[in-house]
Amino acid sequence: MIITIDGPSGTGKSTVAKKLADTLGWIYFDTGAMFRTLAYGVIKYEIDLNSEPQLGYFLAHFPVTLKKQNGVTHFFLDDEDATMHLRRPDVTEMASKISTIQAVRQTLAIAQRKLAISGGSSIFDGRDMGTVIFPHADLKIFLTADPQIRAERRYLELVAKNPDPTLTEERVLADILERDTRDMTRDIAPLKPAEDAHVIDTSALSIDEVVAAIKKHIPGP
Ligand code: DC
Repeated sequence: MIITIDGPSGTGKSTVAKKLADTLGWIYFDTGAMFRTLAYGVIKYEIDLNSEPQLGYFLAHFPVTLKKQNGVTHFFLDDEDATMHLRRPDVTEMASKISTIQAVRQTLAIAQRKLAISGGSSIFDGRDMGTVIFPHADLKIFLTADPQIRAERRYLELVAKNPDPTLTEERVLADILERDTRDMTRDIAPLKPAEDAHVIDTSALSIDEVVAAIKKHIPGP
């Protein structure tokens, strides 16, 4: 069985998906982290995104793979563990940029569908899981939330990880709105709910309340 959870950043997607997977004993796949892993490589190897041969070579020779170590999923770019770099601001920005490129999306689509075949019952979170990657998923969820609240959540998350006195909530909001626009207006696989997705507004809900709301929709045996 596959559950897809899509939506913009700051809606609680990954925390909810992780918690839901834990309570169900299912596997959780964070597809945003796969885009981030490639973005890390693009920065590290200075890949020219306008050069088709360069990008093509990179995508063909630097596969993104996932390995579980002590219960934590690590994201590898070829044989390098990129996990510790994935939340860097430059990687976040580059992930949003490369997610508009068809060749990047195609490469990751193959990797994502492979994960679904190798895993058992799984939860995939991302932007186009319900619309493009798994159009026949058993349950599709789309999370939304007020942008101001999403910025607040993201700000707290960022300062908890890396205290930065120059970071402001306004800046985080502006970045979120910019990435939202890019995600929603790109030509390929734009961010939008699938027609058969259940849309849940998480603005006033706790993580547990969102998990409970999703559980109600899980089809029975
Ligand atoms: O969920 P996230 O913030 O870790 O995602 C990083 C970037 O990747 C974000 O800009 C959107 C993009 N993305 C995407 O286009 N499709 C997905 N399935 C997952 C993420």
